[in-house]
Amino acid sequence: MCGIIGIASNKSVSTNIINSLKKLEYRGYDSAGLATLNKNEINEKKCSGRVEQLEKILFKSPTEGNLGIGHVRWATHGIPNEVNAHPHSSEIVSVVHNGIIENSTELKNQLEKKGKKFKSQTDTEVITLLLTEELKTKNPLQAVQDTLAKLEGSFALGIIFKNFNNIIIGARRGSPLAVGYSNNENYLGSDSYALKSMTNKISYLDDGDICLLTKDKVEFYDLKKNKINKKVLILSEDKNIAQKGDYKNFMSKEIFEQPITTKNCINEYIDKERDEINFFNFPLDPKDINKIVLIGCGTAYHSCLVAKYWFENFTSLPVETDVASEFRYRNLRFNKKNLYIFVSQSGETADTSAALDLCKKNGAKTCSIVNVVESTIARNSDWTLPIHAGPEIGVASTKAFIGQMLLLYILALKISFLRNDLEKKDYQLKIKNLKKLPDLLTKCLKSEDKIQLVAKDFLEAKGSMFLGRGLSFPIALEGALKLKELSYLHAEGYPAGEMKHGPLALIENGLPVIIVCPNDKYFHKTVSNMQEVIARGGKILLITDSNDSVINENIRFTINLPKIDESLTPFLSTIPLQLLAYHVALLKKCDIDKPRNLAKSVTVE
Ligand code: G6P
Repeated sequence: MCGIIGIASNKSVSTNIINSLKKLEYRGYDSAGLATLNKNEINEKKCSGRVEQLEKILFKSPTEGNLGIGHVRWATHGIPNEVNAHPHSSEIVSVVHNGIIENSTELKNQLEKKGKKFKSQTDTEVITLLLTEELKTKNPLQAVQDTLAKLEGSFALGIIFKNFNNIIIGARRGSPLAVGYSNNENYLGSDSYALKSMTNKISYLDDGDICLLTKDKVEFYDLKKNKINKKVLILSEDKNIAQKGDYKNFMSKEIFEQPITTKNCINEYIDKERDEINFFNFPLDPKDINKIVLIGCGTAYHSCLVAKYWFENFTSLPVETDVASEFRYRNLRFNKKNLYIFVSQSGETADTSAALDLCKKNGAKTCSIVNVVESTIARNSDWTLPIHAGPEIGVASTKAFIGQMLLLYILALKISFLRNDLEKKDYQLKIKNLKKLPDLLTKCLKSEDKIQLVAKDFLEAKGSMFLGRGLSFPIALEGALKLKELSYLHAEGYPAGEMKHGPLALIENGLPVIIVCPNDKYFHKTVSNMQEVIARGGKILLITDSNDSVINENIRFTINLPKIDESLTPFLSTIPLQLLAYHVALLKKCDIDKPRNLAKSVTVE
């Protein structure tokens, strides 16, 4: 959450700071700011709202300086306004901060007792005031080290100092931070994405590390204050990295590129000629696995829920799923023969990362399924399986969800085959069917015209309900989440069979109810649940691949999906739900790529 950029250069940095902040907006976008150092003066500019607003301010009153820091904020302490926006500066130091200082109230009280005055409601200002004190007697590095020793919580920091014209200090505890290298210029960034347009040479700070940047060199120090060296990684080039092309926004681009991203992922892991999955380096012999544990947050968690059914159907293994924020605080019995699978688009989600660390501390074997290969979660796990979906910019996850499900499906198949749970002919048939997926997704995208009509029903609605059974239950949850995220409408995802135990009371005349009902073993049961809803006045949108006549009455709209192997239906039914959320949000004129209150990469607890 929040984005940090720092640039030390031999030329003016404010334009590049603004450009980088625009890239970082997916991390937070309720306020923005920058501070540069010019003629030994700290110049701070900040505003509530988007980077665009900050750019206008700079246009009217440009900020010079060859060294500077910038920030986009996702508010944790204090409302999103200009005063609470970062940087937080005193006469001699300016700080941008990502994360939460857990003992800020205590530190604030101590500072106030000493007569210090706070301008903002943020936890960050505590760091500024502590540093201002320390800098009276210490050099910047010592002052930062001694300030950090007083802080509790997780954070990443970027700091510039009056009287030290050429240095930026960065520090990491919990929240990710990267350094980038170029000629006569070095960078600090809360992720590599912001730095990619300036350099492909990156190092990552580890927990407890501090870095000191000038335009010519970068030094690293570890928790014990020892000077250390860091590996320089060369980042892969992402073509069309942040281009929307002819699309209105990133989300529509990302929805419509799903057939291609799916194809890429299949080509990456599945042998073109033979019906075989190319997975090597399992951290644990599949035959020795005792249990599969799947962990994620948000949409990634929903992919875990879908995968639970696949692992249970294809293998003889017990499966557990948990949201990372619960998993990390449970009283768990770790087992070295369990495989713990962490799913995360960004690979930086704080809760998922902490859950992974917990497994590692307990000697458990870990696998990560990520989109960002250079991410913390990817680097910290025993085995990483990238989904190869390309950068996902829209805050609400779409193509990454399909990619996560795809890898989990492939993994479940491979593990079941290697354990002899699935016969070779069934295994190969499933792989053959999987290869058809990209074309079938393209067909599903054709439902857009009808979905545009359906979307109108949601404008007047008080809420909505998404129902499914089996593999379609987590898809119903994901459909409801997408609608909430994008259009701010209340939506409940529910197992269709559970309706009668409470939520049926919510059904009233005209309430939109989406029934995800492929022709699987639950089909007739879900149809019965749908009838119960119709009897109470619910307005049905049915998503199905069945032509059964029983379902034609009293249904407002039906989205017909192509036929596919039963186990692959979650991929197809996801598409109309993504389109539905998208079109409702478009009609409501919501900000599609940056929904209110949300952020793409949640690096706070
Ligand atoms: C945020 C995003 C969600 C995402 C979740 C997990 O809440 O807004 O779209 O599903 O984080 O993110 P991850 O990067 O771990 O998949």
